[in-house]
This record gives sequence, C-alpha cells and structure tokens, in this order.
Amino acid sequence: MSPQHNQTSNDPISQVIVALDVDSVARARELAQLLRGTGCWLKIGLELYALSGVSLIDEFKNLGFNIFLDLKLHDIPTTVERALRVLAGAGADMINVHCLGGYEMMARAADVCHEKGTALIGVTVLTSMNQQQLESIGVPRNVDDQVSCLAHLACRAGLDGIVASAQEVPMLRKQFDQKDFLLVTPGIRPVGSAAHDQARVLTPKAALEAGSSYLVIGRPITKAEEPLRVLRGLFPAVIPPAPA
Ligand code: C5P
Repeated sequence: MSPQHNQTSNDPISQVIVALDVDSVARARELAQLLRGTGCWLKIGLELYALSGVSLIDEFKNLGFNIFLDLKLHDIPTTVERALRVLAGAGADMINVHCLGGYEMMARAADVCHEKGTALIGVTVLTSMNQQQLESIGVPRNVDDQVSCLAHLACRAGLDGIVASAQEVPMLRKQFDQKDFLLVTPGIRPVGSAAHDQARVLTPKAALEAGSSYLVIGRPITKAEEPLRVLRGLFPAVIPPAPA
C-alpha cells in the first residue's frame, strides 16, 4: 500500500506535506484555500485534530488534497488497532504510529490501515531529538543506528515507510533502495529559516536530492506572510513561475 497512486504529477510540490499546526479551524481552512490547486498534501496533526477531530479530512479531500493524519499512535496493539479502525475509516491517505510500539502493534496497525486503503508509516526518532536527548531517555545507540533499527522493524511489520530526518535519508536509501518504501521527512528548513524546536534539519532541495519521498514542512509556510509564495519558492531551480 503506497500513496504514490495519489500523486498527480512529477512536480516536487506533490512531495510536500504542509503541516497545518494552527490554533483554529478557520485558519486551517484559510490555508487550505490558499494552497488549493498546488498539488501539495495537508497534514492534520495533534493540535488541529484536537480542534476538529476527523471532520476536516473529508472537507480537505474534497478540495483535492491528499491528507496525512499525524497522530503518532503508541499504545498496546489492541488499542492502536481499534483506534485505527476508526481513523483510517475516516479517509486519510496516510497515518502514522510510533515504531517504539513494537512489531505486533505495527503489524496489526498495518493490517487495519491496508484494509481501509490507507498507507501506514512509523515514526523512528523525532526530528526534534539530538544525540544527547536520545541518551537521556535511555537509548545508548547513536541516532543513525536507532533510526535504522526501527526502520527495519517497521519494514518487517509491513509498514509502507517511516518518518525520520532527511539527514538520515542517504543512509536509509542504501538500506531500502526500493522507492516504494516511503521516507517521510520533517525538520525541513528553507535556507535562512529558523530551526524552531527542530534539531536535525535539512533544506528542501537537499532532502529531495537525498531521496526523501515526502517533505513535511510546517512553520516556514504556515507562519509566513505569504504561504503560497514560500511553497512555490521551495524548489526555485525546478519549479517554473506560477502563471500570472
Ligand atoms: O513547523 P515544522 O516544519 O517544524 O513542523 C514539522 C511537523 O512535523 C510538525 O507537525 C511535527 O509534529 C511533525 N513531525 C516532526 N517530527 C517527526 C514527526 C512529525 O516534526 N518525527
């Protein structure tokens, strides 16, 4: 199960997932209207889900967007399976769980998502964490080894891909050279953008060149004065200017 079938063009904007981390449904709708027709995906994360539940999935799909529901589920296998039966049934194109939930949780989650036609990816090490923070939660391995270990577990459990930093993508693409194992990478920062709380960041161009399947980008777009201009400017060498 791969969401590739939803990609409508070779335009790299179709590999951008805009994280709608906003504090009102009205602002989320405003951004959706602004970005409509560009081919980007929208991501509904914890804040927007807390505000609106799954109701925006249908609404935004009707505007032509693919939707990534980013709730990073992590619980016992039965609880995650039952939650996903509801969440995947709501029509998201992609959902995620934390790989730290283990093999059985991921395998059962993947079965449910695939029954519903939804891609499932696993979060490895959050892009906000650096080596020191990883050690502080009792993981003695370096970030690369921990990401790699969890990515292989996710692959064996039948997931469609993983979430990691684009900094780990060159290593991961050597290990998972099949293009349909999705490498979804947050922590993307255009040159000159603030890193905020992200620790392992890369530019959009470098992430694509490294082999990221999808780039998750939030604040550099959603907090910009002109979100559409920032989106269209992410890949200046590749994207032709918008028609006047
Ligand atoms: O604003 P920014 O570009 O940092 O947003 C990144 C988005 O990606 C946030 O919605 C965050 O929850 C999500 N994310 C992440 N790191 C992960 C998985 C998801 O930053 N490992």
